[in-house]
Amino acid sequence: MKFFIDTGDVGEIREAYAMGLVDGVTTNPSLIAKSGRKYRDVVVDICEIVNGPISAEVLTTSYDEMMAEARDWHKVHKNIVVKLPLIPEGLKAVKTCAEEGIRTNVTLCFSPVQALLAAKAGASYISPFIGRLDDVGETGMELIAKIVTIYNNYNFETEVLVASVRNPVHVVDAAMLGADICTIPFSVMLQLSKHPLTDTGLKKFVEDAKKIPR
Ligand code: G3P
Repeated sequence: MKFFIDTGDVGEIREAYAMGLVDGVTTNPSLIAKSGRKYRDVVVDICEIVNGPISAEVLTTSYDEMMAEARDWHKVHKNIVVKLPLIPEGLKAVKTCAEEGIRTNVTLCFSPVQALLAAKAGASYISPFIGRLDDVGETGMELIAKIVTIYNNYNFETEVLVASVRNPVHVVDAAMLGADICTIPFSVMLQLSKHPLTDTGLKKFVEDAKKIPR
């Protein structure tokens, strides 16, 4: 399973990259707004750190405006994947991008049929938001199971990029279902590495190491 980091914080990307945990990066307007920097500047910095797919989201919602943004992003760096919303205008943009060789990540997916539409339009990645479904009393992971089944049934090449990941259980469950990618906040990446038995075991080894003659 590939790990992407879901952040607009370049410092977090450097840390996670150093741990070998970054195959790609996803950003969105909310994450970039938190950085207080210009979207383009952040993405250019990320492209210098990570040699993998970097999702940059459009900030408009009409086909013409989204296509203008997509073409601009495509010129910035070969690794940029244009993130487009799962709305009819967005699907039109996905189709044109596919025809023009621009890779896309279709975001804000909350149902299996939406994921089917994105694949048919030619999306490179589909981003189902599981945490936000859990937030409203649905089971986000059931959506992942359905999308994986549908895509396998028809051999769609669209990759399932599990988004809105909030905890380690999400990552394990997504891996069990065979999702292609999890995009994970840095805080959750750190949680993934933790186990209390690792900490207590290491404490004992460190203590005993002092007793070994050198
Ligand atoms: O990149 C989109 C996504 O992962 C959003 O996560 O936590 O805002 O629902 P969250």
